[in-house]
Amino acid sequence: MAAAIKETVSNLVGKLQPHAEPALPEPSAEDFQKLQQKYTEAGQGQVFAFVDELQPTEKTQLYHQLTNFDPTRVNELAEKALSPAAAPEGPPTLEPLPDVALASILDSDPKDIQQWYDAGLKAVSENKVAVVLMAGGQGTRLGSSDPKGCFDIGLPSHKSLFQIQGERIAKLQLLAQKVSGKEAVIPWYVMTSGPTRKPTEDFFQKNNYFGLSKDNVIIFEQGVLPCISNEGKILLESKSKAAVAPDGNGGIYQALVTSGVRENMRNRGIQHIHTYCVDNCLVKVADPVFIGFAAAKDVDIATKVVRKRNATESVGLILQKNGKPDVVEYSEIDQETAEAKDPKQPDVLKFRAANIVNHYYSFRFLESIETWSHKLPHHVARKKIPCIKPENGEAFKPEKPNGIKLEQFVFDVFPLTPLDKFASIEVRREDEFSPLKNAKGTGEDDPDTSKRDIMEQGKRWIEKAGGVIVTEGQSVGVEVSPLISYGGEGLEFLKGREIKAPAAVEKEE
Ligand code: UD1
Repeated sequence: MAAAIKETVSNLVGKLQPHAEPALPEPSAEDFQKLQQKYTEAGQGQVFAFVDELQPTEKTQLYHQLTNFDPTRVNELAEKALSPAAAPEGPPTLEPLPDVALASILDSDPKDIQQWYDAGLKAVSENKVAVVLMAGGQGTRLGSSDPKGCFDIGLPSHKSLFQIQGERIAKLQLLAQKVSGKEAVIPWYVMTSGPTRKPTEDFFQKNNYFGLSKDNVIIFEQGVLPCISNEGKILLESKSKAAVAPDGNGGIYQALVTSGVRENMRNRGIQHIHTYCVDNCLVKVADPVFIGFAAAKDVDIATKVVRKRNATESVGLILQKNGKPDVVEYSEIDQETAEAKDPKQPDVLKFRAANIVNHYYSFRFLESIETWSHKLPHHVARKKIPCIKPENGEAFKPEKPNGIKLEQFVFDVFPLTPLDKFASIEVRREDEFSPLKNAKGTGEDDPDTSKRDIMEQGKRWIEKAGGVIVTEGQSVGVEVSPLISYGGEGLEFLKGREIKAPAAVEKEE
Protein backbone atom coordinates (compact mmCIF):
# COMPACT_ATOMS: atom_id res chain seq x y z
CA MET A 1 0.00 0.00 0.00
CA ALA A 2 2.82 2.40 0.89
CA ALA A 3 4.23 1.92 -2.60
CA ALA A 4 0.85 2.57 -4.14
CA ILE A 5 0.44 5.77 -2.19
CA LYS A 6 3.87 6.89 -3.34
CA GLU A 7 2.67 6.71 -6.92
CA THR A 8 0.72 9.92 -6.57
CA VAL A 9 2.66 13.04 -7.21
CA SER A 10 1.08 16.36 -6.75
CA ASN A 11 -1.83 15.39 -4.56
CA LEU A 12 0.72 14.98 -1.81
CA VAL A 13 1.60 18.63 -2.17
CA GLY A 14 -0.41 21.00 -0.02
CA LYS A 15 -3.42 19.15 1.37
CA LEU A 16 -6.57 20.97 0.28
CA GLN A 17 -4.65 24.15 -0.36
CA PRO A 18 -5.00 26.14 -3.57
CA HIS A 19 -2.41 24.86 -5.98
CA ALA A 20 0.90 26.70 -5.80
CA GLU A 21 4.18 25.37 -7.09
CA PRO A 22 6.31 24.96 -3.97
CA ALA A 23 10.03 25.71 -4.19
CA LEU A 24 11.75 22.34 -4.34
CA PRO A 25 14.77 21.74 -2.11
CA GLU A 26 17.91 20.66 -3.93
CA PRO A 27 18.80 17.04 -3.09
CA SER A 28 22.25 16.15 -1.78
CA ALA A 29 24.60 14.42 -4.23
CA GLU A 30 24.26 11.29 -2.12
CA ASP A 31 20.45 11.28 -2.22
CA PHE A 32 20.50 11.85 -5.96
CA GLN A 33 22.87 8.98 -6.47
CA LYS A 34 20.78 6.66 -4.28
CA LEU A 35 17.70 7.39 -6.36
CA GLN A 36 19.59 6.84 -9.60
CA GLN A 37 20.85 3.51 -8.28
CA LYS A 38 17.32 2.44 -7.31
CA TYR A 39 16.05 3.12 -10.83
CA THR A 40 19.10 1.50 -12.44
CA GLU A 41 18.71 -1.65 -10.36
CA ALA A 42 15.08 -1.83 -11.44
CA GLY A 43 16.15 -1.61 -15.10
CA GLN A 44 14.76 1.93 -15.44
CA GLY A 45 18.07 3.81 -15.41
CA GLN A 46 17.27 5.42 -18.80
CA VAL A 47 15.34 8.17 -16.99
CA PHE A 48 18.73 9.56 -15.92
CA ALA A 49 20.25 9.33 -19.41
CA PHE A 50 20.65 13.10 -19.83
CA VAL A 51 21.41 14.05 -16.26
CA ASP A 52 24.86 15.42 -17.12
CA GLU A 53 23.28 18.00 -19.43
CA LEU A 54 20.80 19.34 -16.85
CA GLN A 55 20.87 22.66 -15.00
CA PRO A 56 20.74 22.31 -11.17
CA THR A 57 17.03 23.34 -11.08
CA GLU A 58 16.15 20.78 -13.75
CA LYS A 59 18.06 18.10 -11.87
CA THR A 60 16.12 19.00 -8.73
CA GLN A 61 12.83 18.76 -10.62
CA LEU A 62 13.70 15.37 -12.04
CA TYR A 63 14.73 14.13 -8.61
CA HIS A 64 11.48 15.22 -6.97
CA GLN A 65 9.33 13.82 -9.73
CA LEU A 66 11.03 10.44 -9.62
CA THR A 67 11.03 10.11 -5.82
CA ASN A 68 7.26 9.92 -6.09
CA PHE A 69 7.37 6.60 -7.91
CA ASP A 70 8.63 3.21 -6.92
CA PRO A 71 10.32 1.81 -10.07
CA THR A 72 9.90 -1.79 -8.91
CA ARG A 73 6.16 -1.27 -8.49
CA VAL A 74 6.02 0.45 -11.89
CA ASN A 75 7.73 -2.63 -13.37
CA GLU A 76 5.15 -4.91 -11.74
CA LEU A 77 2.27 -2.86 -13.10
CA ALA A 78 3.85 -2.67 -16.56
CA GLU A 79 4.46 -6.39 -16.65
CA LYS A 80 0.92 -7.23 -15.60
CA ALA A 81 -0.44 -4.77 -18.13
CA LEU A 82 1.78 -5.80 -21.03
CA SER A 83 1.62 -9.55 -20.46
CA PRO A 84 -1.69 -10.20 -18.69
CA ALA A 85 -2.11 -13.62 -17.10
CA ALA A 86 -4.19 -16.02 -19.19
CA ALA A 87 -7.91 -15.61 -18.49
CA PRO A 88 -9.39 -18.20 -16.15
CA GLU A 89 -11.14 -21.16 -17.80
CA GLY A 90 -13.92 -20.13 -20.14
CA PRO A 91 -15.66 -16.80 -20.67
CA PRO A 92 -17.16 -15.05 -17.64
CA THR A 93 -20.81 -15.67 -16.75
CA LEU A 94 -22.78 -12.49 -17.32
CA GLU A 95 -26.26 -11.94 -15.89
CA PRO A 96 -28.32 -8.85 -15.18
CA LEU A 97 -28.29 -7.79 -11.52
CA PRO A 98 -30.82 -9.73 -9.43
CA ASP A 99 -34.21 -8.06 -8.87
CA VAL A 100 -33.45 -7.56 -5.19
CA ALA A 101 -30.59 -5.18 -6.03
CA LEU A 102 -32.66 -3.26 -8.57
CA ALA A 103 -35.26 -0.54 -8.51
CA SER A 104 -36.64 1.69 -11.22
CA ILE A 105 -37.97 5.22 -11.05
CA LEU A 106 -40.03 4.22 -14.07
CA ASP A 107 -42.16 1.68 -12.23
CA SER A 108 -41.58 2.25 -8.51
CA ASP A 109 -44.52 3.12 -6.29
CA PRO A 110 -44.67 6.96 -6.19
CA LYS A 111 -44.98 6.66 -2.41
CA ASP A 112 -41.55 4.97 -2.27
CA ILE A 113 -40.01 7.64 -4.47
CA GLN A 114 -41.47 10.38 -2.23
CA GLN A 115 -40.13 8.62 0.87
CA TRP A 116 -36.64 8.36 -0.64
CA TYR A 117 -36.77 12.04 -1.64
CA ASP A 118 -37.86 13.15 1.83
CA ALA A 119 -35.21 11.03 3.54
CA GLY A 120 -32.51 12.25 1.13
CA LEU A 121 -33.46 15.90 1.57
CA LYS A 122 -33.47 15.45 5.35
CA ALA A 123 -29.91 14.04 5.14
CA VAL A 124 -28.93 17.09 3.06
CA SER A 125 -30.54 19.41 5.62
CA GLU A 126 -28.50 17.70 8.35
CA ASN A 127 -25.28 18.39 6.37
CA LYS A 128 -24.58 14.68 5.93
CA VAL A 129 -24.35 14.66 2.13
CA ALA A 130 -21.29 15.51 0.01
CA VAL A 131 -20.66 15.53 -3.71
CA VAL A 132 -17.48 14.44 -5.50
CA LEU A 133 -17.05 15.48 -9.11
CA MET A 134 -14.57 13.54 -11.23
CA ALA A 135 -13.08 16.13 -13.55
CA GLY A 136 -9.55 14.92 -14.14
CA GLY A 137 -10.13 13.70 -17.70
CA GLN A 138 -8.78 15.64 -20.64
CA GLY A 139 -11.71 15.73 -23.05
CA THR A 140 -9.59 14.98 -26.10
CA ARG A 141 -12.60 13.63 -28.04
CA LEU A 142 -14.36 16.96 -27.54
CA GLY A 143 -11.52 18.78 -29.25
CA SER A 144 -11.13 21.42 -26.52
CA SER A 145 -7.99 22.08 -24.50
CA ASP A 146 -9.92 23.56 -21.53
CA PRO A 147 -11.25 21.27 -18.80
CA LYS A 148 -14.60 19.87 -19.96
CA GLY A 149 -16.47 21.56 -17.11
CA CYS A 150 -15.63 25.02 -18.55
CA PHE A 151 -17.43 24.15 -21.77
CA ASP A 152 -20.31 26.37 -22.93
CA ILE A 153 -22.86 24.07 -24.58
CA GLY A 154 -24.59 27.02 -26.21
CA LEU A 155 -27.53 27.61 -23.84
CA PRO A 156 -29.18 31.05 -24.01
CA SER A 157 -27.42 31.85 -20.68
CA HIS A 158 -24.07 30.45 -21.93
CA LYS A 159 -23.58 28.73 -18.59
CA SER A 160 -20.74 26.25 -18.39
CA LEU A 161 -21.20 22.66 -17.18
CA PHE A 162 -19.49 23.62 -13.90
CA GLN A 163 -21.93 26.51 -13.42
CA ILE A 164 -25.01 24.36 -14.09
CA GLN A 165 -23.80 21.80 -11.54
CA GLY A 166 -22.79 24.44 -8.97
CA GLU A 167 -26.19 26.16 -9.24
CA ARG A 168 -27.99 22.85 -8.71
CA ILE A 169 -26.03 22.42 -5.47
CA ALA A 170 -26.94 25.97 -4.41
CA LYS A 171 -30.63 25.34 -5.12
CA LEU A 172 -30.69 22.03 -3.28
CA GLN A 173 -29.10 23.68 -0.25
CA LEU A 174 -32.02 26.14 -0.24
CA LEU A 175 -34.63 23.38 -0.62
CA ALA A 176 -33.03 21.55 2.32
CA GLN A 177 -32.96 24.74 4.37
CA LYS A 178 -36.72 24.99 3.97
CA VAL A 179 -37.02 21.56 5.62
CA SER A 180 -34.94 22.30 8.69
CA GLY A 181 -34.99 26.09 8.95
CA LYS A 182 -31.20 25.96 9.24
CA GLU A 183 -28.46 26.62 6.71
CA ALA A 184 -27.65 23.48 4.74
CA VAL A 185 -24.23 22.84 3.21
CA ILE A 186 -23.36 20.32 0.51
CA PRO A 187 -19.58 20.34 0.19
CA TRP A 188 -18.47 19.98 -3.42
CA TYR A 189 -15.16 18.16 -3.86
CA VAL A 190 -13.79 18.59 -7.36
CA MET A 191 -11.20 16.04 -8.45
CA THR A 192 -8.78 17.42 -11.04
CA SER A 193 -5.54 16.11 -12.49
CA GLY A 194 -2.18 17.71 -13.33
CA PRO A 195 -3.46 19.11 -16.63
CA THR A 196 -6.90 20.24 -15.37
CA ARG A 197 -6.16 21.56 -11.87
CA LYS A 198 -4.90 25.08 -12.57
CA PRO A 199 -7.43 25.98 -15.28
CA THR A 200 -10.23 24.54 -13.11
CA GLU A 201 -9.15 26.57 -10.09
CA ASP A 202 -8.85 29.71 -12.19
CA PHE A 203 -12.30 29.16 -13.69
CA PHE A 204 -13.97 28.66 -10.31
CA GLN A 205 -12.26 31.74 -8.93
CA LYS A 206 -13.14 33.88 -11.94
CA ASN A 207 -16.78 32.81 -11.61
CA ASN A 208 -16.91 33.42 -7.88
CA TYR A 209 -17.51 29.73 -7.17
CA PHE A 210 -20.90 30.07 -8.87
CA GLY A 211 -22.34 31.72 -5.75
CA LEU A 212 -21.30 28.88 -3.42
CA SER A 213 -19.15 29.52 -0.39
CA LYS A 214 -15.50 29.07 -1.34
CA ASP A 215 -14.94 27.09 1.89
CA ASN A 216 -17.33 24.43 0.66
CA VAL A 217 -15.81 23.99 -2.79
CA ILE A 218 -12.70 21.89 -2.43
CA ILE A 219 -10.55 21.31 -5.49
CA PHE A 220 -8.13 18.43 -5.18
CA GLU A 221 -5.86 16.48 -7.47
CA GLN A 222 -5.66 12.84 -8.44
CA GLY A 223 -2.37 11.03 -8.93
CA VAL A 224 -0.34 10.32 -12.02
CA LEU A 225 1.55 7.29 -13.23
CA PRO A 226 4.52 7.16 -15.58
CA CYS A 227 3.84 6.42 -19.25
CA ILE A 228 5.59 3.25 -20.35
CA SER A 229 7.04 2.20 -23.69
CA ASN A 230 5.83 -1.01 -25.34
CA GLU A 231 8.98 -2.58 -23.90
CA GLY A 232 8.09 -1.60 -20.35
CA LYS A 233 10.45 1.38 -20.01
CA ILE A 234 9.42 4.69 -18.43
CA LEU A 235 9.31 7.32 -21.19
CA LEU A 236 10.83 10.77 -20.85
CA GLU A 237 8.80 13.83 -21.84
CA SER A 238 11.98 15.93 -21.73
CA LYS A 239 15.49 15.44 -20.46
CA SER A 240 14.39 16.48 -16.97
CA LYS A 241 10.88 15.02 -16.82
CA ALA A 242 9.33 11.57 -17.08
CA ALA A 243 6.17 11.41 -19.20
CA VAL A 244 3.20 10.94 -16.85
CA ALA A 245 -0.58 10.70 -17.18
CA PRO A 246 -3.51 10.86 -14.72
CA ASP A 247 -4.12 7.44 -13.17
CA GLY A 248 -7.71 7.10 -14.43
CA ASN A 249 -10.98 7.92 -12.67
CA GLY A 250 -10.32 4.97 -10.33
CA GLY A 251 -7.50 7.14 -8.94
CA ILE A 252 -10.29 8.80 -6.97
CA TYR A 253 -10.02 6.36 -4.07
CA GLN A 254 -6.37 6.94 -3.37
CA ALA A 255 -6.74 10.66 -4.00
CA LEU A 256 -9.59 10.91 -1.46
CA VAL A 257 -7.16 9.64 1.14
CA THR A 258 -3.90 11.36 0.18
CA SER A 259 -5.44 14.75 -0.56
CA GLY A 260 -7.14 14.94 2.83
CA VAL A 261 -10.65 14.98 1.33
CA ARG A 262 -11.80 11.95 3.30
CA GLU A 263 -10.57 13.53 6.51
CA ASN A 264 -12.40 16.71 5.60
CA MET A 265 -15.58 14.69 5.08
CA ARG A 266 -15.08 12.94 8.41
CA ASN A 267 -14.65 16.26 10.21
CA ARG A 268 -17.87 17.53 8.65
CA GLY A 269 -19.84 14.43 9.66
CA ILE A 270 -20.58 13.38 6.08
CA GLN A 271 -22.38 10.02 5.76
CA HIS A 272 -23.50 9.87 2.14
CA ILE A 273 -21.48 10.70 -0.98
CA HIS A 274 -22.66 11.25 -4.54
CA THR A 275 -19.96 10.94 -7.21
CA TYR A 276 -20.43 11.78 -10.87
CA CYS A 277 -18.77 12.71 -14.17
CA VAL A 278 -18.29 16.27 -15.31
CA ASP A 279 -19.68 15.72 -18.80
CA ASN A 280 -23.34 15.09 -17.93
CA CYS A 281 -25.34 18.33 -18.23
CA LEU A 282 -28.45 16.69 -16.75
CA VAL A 283 -26.76 15.28 -13.65
CA LYS A 284 -28.91 15.58 -10.51
CA VAL A 285 -26.14 16.54 -8.17
CA ALA A 286 -26.70 15.11 -4.64
CA ASP A 287 -30.10 13.82 -5.83
CA PRO A 288 -32.21 13.32 -2.67
CA VAL A 289 -34.06 10.38 -4.28
CA PHE A 290 -30.78 8.57 -4.94
CA ILE A 291 -29.38 9.33 -1.47
CA GLY A 292 -32.66 8.28 0.19
CA PHE A 293 -32.85 5.10 -1.91
CA ALA A 294 -29.28 4.01 -1.06
CA ALA A 295 -29.66 4.92 2.61
CA ALA A 296 -32.95 2.99 2.85
CA LYS A 297 -31.25 -0.08 1.36
CA ASP A 298 -28.30 0.45 3.71
CA VAL A 299 -25.84 -0.31 0.92
CA ASP A 300 -22.21 0.70 0.57
CA ILE A 301 -22.42 1.43 -3.15
CA ALA A 302 -25.35 2.32 -5.35
CA THR A 303 -25.42 3.29 -9.00
CA LYS A 304 -27.85 4.94 -11.34
CA VAL A 305 -28.47 3.42 -14.73
CA VAL A 306 -30.49 4.37 -17.78
CA ARG A 307 -31.93 2.05 -20.36
CA LYS A 308 -29.37 1.42 -23.11
CA ARG A 309 -30.55 3.11 -26.31
CA ASN A 310 -29.75 0.15 -28.53
CA ALA A 311 -27.38 -2.80 -28.69
CA THR A 312 -24.55 -0.73 -30.14
CA GLU A 313 -24.56 2.34 -27.85
CA SER A 314 -21.05 3.05 -26.50
CA VAL A 315 -21.78 2.75 -22.79
CA GLY A 316 -20.66 0.36 -20.09
CA LEU A 317 -23.24 -2.06 -18.68
CA ILE A 318 -23.93 -2.66 -15.01
CA LEU A 319 -24.51 -6.35 -14.42
CA GLN A 320 -23.23 -9.31 -12.45
CA LYS A 321 -20.11 -11.00 -13.72
CA ASN A 322 -19.37 -14.38 -12.19
CA GLY A 323 -21.95 -13.58 -9.52
CA LYS A 324 -20.46 -10.20 -8.53
CA PRO A 325 -21.62 -6.68 -9.35
CA ASP A 326 -19.51 -5.28 -12.17
CA VAL A 327 -19.34 -3.10 -15.26
CA VAL A 328 -18.56 -4.49 -18.67
CA GLU A 329 -17.46 -1.85 -21.15
CA TYR A 330 -19.04 -1.77 -24.61
CA SER A 331 -15.73 -2.77 -26.16
CA GLU A 332 -15.61 -5.96 -24.07
CA ILE A 333 -19.01 -7.43 -24.90
CA ASP A 334 -19.70 -9.64 -27.93
CA GLN A 335 -22.48 -8.86 -30.38
CA GLU A 336 -24.65 -11.81 -29.36
CA THR A 337 -24.63 -10.79 -25.70
CA ALA A 338 -25.16 -7.12 -26.58
CA GLU A 339 -28.21 -8.02 -28.71
CA ALA A 340 -29.74 -10.65 -26.38
CA LYS A 341 -33.37 -9.95 -25.42
CA ASP A 342 -34.82 -10.13 -21.94
CA PRO A 343 -36.76 -13.42 -21.71
CA LYS A 344 -39.28 -11.70 -19.38
CA GLN A 345 -39.80 -8.70 -21.71
CA PRO A 346 -38.77 -9.70 -25.24
CA ASP A 347 -39.08 -6.12 -26.53
CA VAL A 348 -36.16 -4.90 -24.41
CA LEU A 349 -32.48 -5.85 -24.22
CA LYS A 350 -31.44 -8.35 -21.59
CA PHE A 351 -28.39 -6.23 -20.74
CA ARG A 352 -29.80 -2.72 -20.78
CA ALA A 353 -28.54 -1.13 -17.57
CA ALA A 354 -26.25 1.55 -19.01
CA ASN A 355 -23.65 2.90 -16.60
CA ILE A 356 -23.99 6.68 -16.28
CA VAL A 357 -21.27 6.95 -13.63
CA ASN A 358 -23.50 8.28 -10.89
CA HIS A 359 -22.36 6.48 -7.78
CA TYR A 360 -23.41 6.56 -4.17
CA TYR A 361 -20.95 5.61 -1.42
CA SER A 362 -21.61 5.32 2.27
CA PHE A 363 -18.94 7.13 4.24
CA ARG A 364 -18.29 3.96 6.24
CA PHE A 365 -17.28 2.31 2.97
CA LEU A 366 -14.81 5.07 2.14
CA GLU A 367 -13.32 4.54 5.59
CA SER A 368 -12.18 1.11 4.38
CA ILE A 369 -10.29 2.30 1.24
CA GLU A 370 -6.92 1.12 2.58
CA THR A 371 -8.18 -2.47 2.89
CA TRP A 372 -9.08 -2.84 -0.80
CA SER A 373 -7.59 -0.11 -3.00
CA HIS A 374 -4.41 -2.13 -3.68
CA LYS A 375 -6.62 -4.81 -5.29
CA LEU A 376 -7.89 -2.51 -8.05
CA PRO A 377 -6.41 -3.52 -11.40
CA HIS A 378 -4.64 -1.22 -13.83
CA HIS A 379 -6.00 -1.08 -17.36
CA VAL A 380 -3.90 -0.43 -20.42
CA ALA A 381 -4.62 2.44 -22.76
CA ARG A 382 -2.37 2.23 -25.83
CA LYS A 383 -1.61 5.82 -26.83
CA LYS A 384 0.55 8.07 -28.93
CA ILE A 385 2.80 9.54 -26.27
CA PRO A 386 5.05 12.45 -27.26
CA CYS A 387 8.47 11.83 -25.75
CA ILE A 388 12.20 12.16 -26.39
CA LYS A 389 14.29 9.40 -27.92
CA PRO A 390 16.40 7.70 -25.24
CA GLU A 391 19.39 7.36 -27.55
CA ASN A 392 19.83 11.06 -28.50
CA GLY A 393 17.21 13.15 -26.68
CA GLU A 394 15.48 14.23 -29.90
CA ALA A 395 11.77 15.05 -29.65
CA PHE A 396 9.54 12.28 -31.01
CA LYS A 397 5.89 12.79 -32.02
CA PRO A 398 4.57 9.30 -32.73
CA GLU A 399 2.02 8.64 -35.45
CA LYS A 400 0.91 5.35 -33.99
CA PRO A 401 0.69 4.20 -30.36
CA ASN A 402 4.21 3.96 -28.97
CA GLY A 403 3.39 3.16 -25.39
CA ILE A 404 0.81 2.73 -22.69
CA LYS A 405 -0.90 4.76 -20.03
CA LEU A 406 -1.98 2.86 -16.95
CA GLU A 407 -5.45 3.68 -15.64
CA GLN A 408 -7.69 2.53 -12.87
CA PHE A 409 -11.46 2.55 -13.33
CA VAL A 410 -13.81 3.88 -10.70
CA PHE A 411 -16.15 0.89 -11.04
CA ASP A 412 -13.50 -1.76 -10.41
CA VAL A 413 -14.47 -1.57 -6.78
CA PHE A 414 -17.90 -3.05 -7.56
CA PRO A 415 -16.82 -6.73 -7.65
CA LEU A 416 -15.24 -6.26 -4.23
CA THR A 417 -18.66 -5.34 -2.83
CA PRO A 418 -21.06 -8.10 -1.74
CA LEU A 419 -24.31 -8.11 -3.73
CA ASP A 420 -26.32 -7.30 -0.60
CA LYS A 421 -24.31 -4.10 -0.15
CA PHE A 422 -24.82 -3.00 -3.75
CA ALA A 423 -27.92 -1.52 -5.37
CA SER A 424 -28.86 0.04 -8.65
CA ILE A 425 -31.69 2.32 -9.64
CA GLU A 426 -32.93 2.92 -13.16
CA VAL A 427 -33.69 6.57 -13.94
CA ARG A 428 -35.14 8.38 -16.93
CA ARG A 429 -32.50 9.17 -19.51
CA GLU A 430 -34.27 12.34 -20.63
CA ASP A 431 -34.11 13.66 -17.07
CA GLU A 432 -30.68 12.50 -15.97
CA PHE A 433 -28.21 11.62 -18.69
CA SER A 434 -26.91 13.57 -21.62
CA PRO A 435 -23.12 13.28 -21.76
CA LEU A 436 -20.85 15.60 -23.67
CA LYS A 437 -18.31 13.33 -25.34
CA ASN A 438 -17.90 14.48 -28.94
CA ALA A 439 -17.13 17.65 -30.86
CA LYS A 440 -19.90 19.88 -32.29
CA GLY A 441 -21.48 18.48 -35.41
CA THR A 442 -21.12 14.82 -34.46
CA GLY A 443 -24.88 14.52 -33.84
CA GLU A 444 -24.50 12.28 -30.81
CA ASP A 445 -23.44 13.21 -27.27
CA ASP A 446 -22.17 16.56 -28.51
CA PRO A 447 -22.75 20.19 -27.41
CA ASP A 448 -25.97 20.44 -29.46
CA THR A 449 -27.52 17.33 -27.94
CA SER A 450 -26.55 18.58 -24.45
CA LYS A 451 -28.22 21.92 -25.11
CA ARG A 452 -31.29 20.28 -26.66
CA ASP A 453 -31.75 17.96 -23.69
CA ILE A 454 -31.63 20.81 -21.14
CA MET A 455 -34.03 22.95 -23.18
CA GLU A 456 -36.48 20.09 -23.73
CA GLN A 457 -36.44 19.27 -20.06
CA GLY A 458 -37.22 22.93 -19.24
CA LYS A 459 -40.12 22.81 -21.68
CA ARG A 460 -41.52 19.65 -20.06
CA TRP A 461 -41.25 21.20 -16.59
CA ILE A 462 -42.96 24.42 -17.59
CA GLU A 463 -45.78 22.66 -19.39
CA LYS A 464 -46.30 20.39 -16.39
CA ALA A 465 -46.58 23.49 -14.18
CA GLY A 466 -49.26 24.89 -16.52
CA GLY A 467 -47.11 27.32 -18.50
CA VAL A 468 -47.70 27.71 -22.22
CA ILE A 469 -44.72 27.53 -24.55
CA VAL A 470 -45.02 29.39 -27.79
CA THR A 471 -42.49 27.97 -30.19
CA GLU A 472 -40.86 29.96 -32.95
CA GLY A 473 -39.57 28.01 -35.93
CA GLN A 474 -37.30 25.10 -35.04
CA SER A 475 -36.62 26.17 -31.46
CA VAL A 476 -36.17 23.36 -29.00
CA GLY A 477 -37.43 24.62 -25.69
CA VAL A 478 -36.69 26.71 -22.63
CA GLU A 479 -33.70 26.86 -20.34
CA VAL A 480 -34.83 26.91 -16.73
CA SER A 481 -32.11 28.16 -14.41
CA PRO A 482 -31.18 25.62 -11.72
CA LEU A 483 -31.46 28.54 -9.29
CA ILE A 484 -35.21 28.55 -10.04
CA SER A 485 -35.79 24.82 -10.11
CA TYR A 486 -33.64 21.82 -9.18
CA GLY A 487 -35.86 19.12 -10.62
CA GLY A 488 -39.03 20.74 -11.98
CA GLU A 489 -40.38 21.95 -8.61
CA GLY A 490 -41.39 25.52 -7.80
CA LEU A 491 -42.57 26.58 -11.25
CA GLU A 492 -46.20 27.22 -10.28
CA PHE A 493 -45.63 30.96 -10.83
CA LEU A 494 -45.55 30.20 -14.56
CA LYS A 495 -49.08 28.74 -14.59
CA GLY A 496 -51.08 30.19 -17.46
CA ARG A 497 -48.12 32.33 -18.59
CA GLU A 498 -46.96 32.35 -22.19
CA ILE A 499 -43.27 31.82 -22.75
CA LYS A 500 -41.70 32.25 -26.15
CA ALA A 501 -39.16 29.57 -26.91
CA PRO A 502 -36.22 29.58 -27.07
CA ALA A 503 -35.88 31.45 -23.81
CA ALA A 504 -34.15 31.31 -20.47
CA VAL A 505 -36.16 31.48 -17.23
CA GLU A 506 -33.69 33.00 -14.81
CA LYS A 507 -35.91 34.75 -12.28
CA GLU A 508 -39.27 34.40 -10.58
CA GLU A 509 -41.14 37.48 -11.79
C1 UD1 B 1 -17.37 6.36 -18.68
C2 UD1 B 1 -17.54 4.99 -18.01
C3 UD1 B 1 -18.47 4.14 -18.85
C4 UD1 B 1 -19.81 4.88 -18.97
C5 UD1 B 1 -19.60 6.26 -19.60
C6 UD1 B 1 -20.90 7.05 -19.56
C7 UD1 B 1 -15.48 4.64 -16.74
C8 UD1 B 1 -14.13 4.00 -16.70
N1 UD1 B 1 -16.22 4.39 -17.87
O1 UD1 B 1 -16.72 6.11 -19.93
O2 UD1 B 1 -18.68 2.86 -18.23
O3 UD1 B 1 -20.76 4.15 -19.70
O4 UD1 B 1 -18.62 7.00 -18.83
O5 UD1 B 1 -20.73 8.35 -19.99
O6 UD1 B 1 -15.89 5.29 -15.78
N2 UD1 B 1 -11.72 11.14 -15.30
C9 UD1 B 1 -10.93 11.57 -14.28
N3 UD1 B 1 -9.63 11.19 -14.28
C10 UD1 B 1 -9.06 10.41 -15.23
C11 UD1 B 1 -9.89 9.97 -16.30
C12 UD1 B 1 -11.22 10.35 -16.31
O7 UD1 B 1 -11.40 12.28 -13.37
O8 UD1 B 1 -7.87 10.10 -15.14
C13 UD1 B 1 -13.15 11.54 -15.30
C14 UD1 B 1 -13.51 12.40 -16.52
O9 UD1 B 1 -13.19 13.75 -16.27
C15 UD1 B 1 -14.98 12.14 -16.63
C16 UD1 B 1 -15.12 10.67 -16.11
O10 UD1 B 1 -13.95 10.38 -15.39
O11 UD1 B 1 -15.73 12.99 -15.79
C17 UD1 B 1 -15.37 9.64 -17.21
O12 UD1 B 1 -14.28 9.63 -18.06
P1 UD1 B 1 -14.41 9.35 -19.62
O13 UD1 B 1 -13.05 9.16 -20.14
O14 UD1 B 1 -15.27 10.39 -20.24
O15 UD1 B 1 -15.14 7.94 -19.59
P2 UD1 B 1 -15.90 7.21 -20.76
O16 UD1 B 1 -14.91 6.48 -21.59
O17 UD1 B 1 -16.84 8.08 -21.46
